[in-house]
Amino acid sequence: MTSRHIVALGGSLLRPEESEQRSAWFGQLRQLAVHLEGNGRRVGIVIGGGLPAREAIELAKTCVSASDKLDRVGIAATRLNATVIQQILLDIGCNVAPSIPHTTSESAELLEKYNFVVMGGTTPGHTTDAVAVAFARDAGSRTCIIATNVSHVYDKDPREFDDAQSLTKLTIDELAEITGIGEPLAPGASAVIDPIAVGWAKDSCIDLAVLDGRQISTLEQALDGQPFDGTLITS
Ligand code: UTP
Repeated sequence: MTSRHIVALGGSLLRPEESEQRSAWFGQLRQLAVHLEGNGRRVGIVIGGGLPAREAIELAKTCVSASDKLDRVGIAATRLNATVIQQILLDIGCNVAPSIPHTTSESAELLEKYNFVVMGGTTPGHTTDAVAVAFARDAGSRTCIIATNVSHVYDKDPREFDDAQSLTKLTIDELAEITGIGEPLAPGASAVIDPIAVGWAKDSCIDLAVLDGRQISTLEQALDGQPFDGTLITS
């Protein structure tokens, strides 16, 4: 069986306020997709909700407090962003699944037939990081790449602590000490990795590669199994 790669692409990478960098980034992403398909690779891509998710959750919060309802608003935004990436890949003629699956098992099945499957969130109670880990599990992939807007996992929050150290290699248990494990985040809350994803990766023995998704060359290195600038978490 051809190896399957699963990538969580953080919604923050699609930032509309950084239009110049964004169009360059889309161009590099398209080139990478053509290259991957040319080499017969199969890649599952899970897209985060980014700004649309946060804005829509804030809007809904004015009337709604139940977290599962707010999560559903977030899921709709992830599916919107997934559709953007799916259509961009279809537009350049890539062999992309025509639907945005609602479950990771459906995505894994579609990855048997298509070079790319793009999806967003699934059910309330976790983020797209966890969806990507479940997709990796269902597709028989040992590694899940988390491409986000920070270059590494840090030993403490670098936004709060000037002396935070970036980490290049750690075990899943060491990661769990930093992020927590198994406890859901509040709807729209941000964290380097969702603690639910950490728990699922541990349960399914999936390694995690956390890297800066703004650098497409770094993503390509990780997809090629080469050393990459980021954090490798072994299960
Ligand atoms: P994201 O996966 O986008 O959250 O989901 P994130 O970690 O903040 O990722 P970035 O910043 O986009 O990279 C956004 C929200 O959608 C809901 C949750 O409320 C989450 O906070 N969601 C998403 C779910 O409830 N289930 C899912 O499967 C996915």
